[in-house]
Amino acid sequence: MKRTIGIIGGGQLGLMIAEQAHILGARCIALDPAPDAPAFAVCDEHIVAAFDDANALEELCRRSDVVTYEFENVPSGLLVGLERKYNIKQGFRPLFDSQDRLREKENARANGLRTVRYAAADDEASLRRAIEEIGVPCVVKTRTLGYDGHGQAVVRDTGDIAKAADLLPAPLIVEEFIAFDYEASAVAVADDKRAICFPVGRNIHKDGILDLCIVPCDDAATGERIARESCDFMRRCGYRGILAIEYFVRDGEIYFNEMAPRPHNSGHYTIEGCSTNQFRELCRYLLDMPLEEPRLLAPTVMKNILGCDLEAAERIAAQHLPDVHVHIYGKTVCKPLRKMGHITFTATAAERYRNEWADKFVR
Ligand SMILES: Nc1ncnc2c1ncn2[C@@H]1O[C@H](COP(=O)(O)OP(=O)(O)O)[C@@H](O)[C@H]1O
Ligand SMILES: [Mg+2]
Repeated sequence: MKRTIGIIGGGQLGLMIAEQAHILGARCIALDPAPDAPAFAVCDEHIVAAFDDANALEELCRRSDVVTYEFENVPSGLLVGLERKYNIKQGFRPLFDSQDRLREKENARANGLRTVRYAAADDEASLRRAIEEIGVPCVVKTRTLGYDGHGQAVVRDTGDIAKAADLLPAPLIVEEFIAFDYEASAVAVADDKRAICFPVGRNIHKDGILDLCIVPCDDAATGERIARESCDFMRRCGYRGILAIEYFVRDGEIYFNEMAPRPHNSGHYTIEGCSTNQFRELCRYLLDMPLEEPRLLAPTVMKNILGCDLEAAERIAAQHLPDVHVHIYGKTVCKPLRKMGHITFTATAAERYRNEWADKFVR
């Protein structure tokens, strides 16, 4: 009998998990509060419910052989109870550890990774103290629920403190601002036997949102080190399943920034750029199949398509060009800064992308 993967979350990550699950012969059921969630178009079944609806989460578990999450803010406390009764194969732990930026960084340090300096704050007085301790420039972030640069303020001088204080009363973390050479991220998958890591690229953000992922990154030794240390970190933490880690790179040193126990935007390039991809290896883990070591097939560039570039992406898709792989997620509401799709340019290095493609997009 076909096995069913339950996915908490029905966004584009759920959609791409379901596509790979089908290729591996499994069924999928997704849970999401939005009736028009992108993954519902691909999943065999779905449940429309809030992420904190305990009964609906239990129903998802009951109807699945194994459960994963593609959305980071599922209350991890709810998963603790469900994990005892159902096969939530990654467990609640990596999710719990990633849900609070302070806990996440302490955990990273305790398990062998370097971070920038940081301090916690939860009211105006402690915020001022923390900024004093860390020094300017610094970045103030909400400890929970931030994404794509939301819930952050850069403090360059004391005049910016009021702007940062607007983030209160949420608990905050104040981080040293690092003038990094570049950003990079690792996507690793581990089972009881081995940990694999996808080739590491260079990530370019615009306005706090990932714009490009260029693979391989210019500096092979650092890329390999990031991959190795990410696998070691997973082992030390005892995590299984998938984990994405974002790093800052400066002067050959690497700094953990944040992590997510789910497929990652920077790993979308793996679908066409590698011999196996992040969604497929997650599914192989969930379905008790042995993991495959990924290989980069050729230099690859992934461009995120936000709403402002959706029309350009559709025009490119209509040309059916070799080495140009357009993914449109089918979201029914388009906003200028919403992630609507991505394009993977295989056999394309950074220079070719800049010469042939960069000017096709407004962003
Ligand atoms: N301490 C920092 N120093 C310099 N830039 C930062 C720092 N923290 C975040 N950024 C920039 O903001 C982006 C988003 O921040 P991040 O911590 O990854 O939060 P999220 O992706 O959850 O919004 C990062 O990719 C990076 O470009
Ligand atoms: Mg980030």
